Amino acid sequence: MTYENILVARDGRVGIITLNRPKALNALCDALIDDLGGALDEFEADEGIGAIILTGSEKAFAAGADIKEMKDRSFMDVYLSDFITKGWERVASCRKPVIAAVAGFALGGGCEVAMMCDIIIAAENAKFGQPEITLGIIPGAGGTQRLTRALGKAKAMDLVLTGRMMDAAEAERCGLVSRIVPAEKLMEEALAVAGKIASMSLPITLFAKESVNRAFETSLAEGLRFERRMFHAAFATEDQSEGMSAFAEKRPAQFKHR
Ligand code: CAA
Repeated sequence: MTYENILVARDGRVGIITLNRPKALNALCDALIDDLGGALDEFEADEGIGAIILTGSEKAFAAGADIKEMKDRSFMDVYLSDFITKGWERVASCRKPVIAAVAGFALGGGCEVAMMCDIIIAAENAKFGQPEITLGIIPGAGGTQRLTRALGKAKAMDLVLTGRMMDAAEAERCGLVSRIVPAEKLMEEALAVAGKIASMSLPITLFAKESVNRAFETSLAEGLRFERRMFHAAFATEDQSEGMSAFAEKRPAQFKHR
């Protein structure tokens, strides 16, 4: 498929989606969200893809939902069309691991989309924030919930109520991003991480992602029960047999499903 607002590429078993609306700092207009969903559908259906990188430009991962597109919408417009839920949650519902490689601004919906990904790798110039309050709205794509789970109440309240930005160092200190790299190394690092993930067994990777995500949805007892079931199910796969045999035989595993 061809897309107007994103670029799509692949590097071995890694799918790469680059948000590409430079004139609007990758503001997430409806058409871009549709493109993003289409690309994720394609990569998800492709057995040759084991992990996905979502990135933007050096200046902006994404500066939020498109304010110009949104500004004249009424309550009835956004309510009846279920604005934000529709389309946006596609990133969170992706079963394959998605790595956000963030340089520059990740604000509002941009920060929320990054948080829908599984791992955030930040360039030194990355800036995160939920500035919606300055526009007379609140975050609408999960910011109040995912930020609070990721950073805790104190930091989430600080960001959501003041609308201020935090830099990459602060984002790493409070656990939002998993690592910071020099801007020129961002894609190299993201590709190394995504390539490593994509070299594992795909079904086992899906088990692992689903199990970690379960921690946000259930009690500890339920989460542990779920993990145990997935752990047991891993023993039904050829890749468990191959992974453990390879260890015993001191050779690299040749997973069948990857
Ligand atoms: N929507 C639409 N257009 C945007 C945009 C957005 N979110 N962010 C930037 N742009 C546009 C600007 O209007 C400008 O376009 P023109 O050249 O046509 O005027 C262009 O991108 C470049 O932006 P700036 O000139 O403002 O660049 P800057 O470097 O001076 O400032 C910035 C950068 C601080 C990120 C500033 O652009 C900004 O504050 N953007 C808005 C950030 C924001 O409020 N995001 C939250 C949106 S609401 C939301 O996301 C709701 C939700 O929960 C989903």
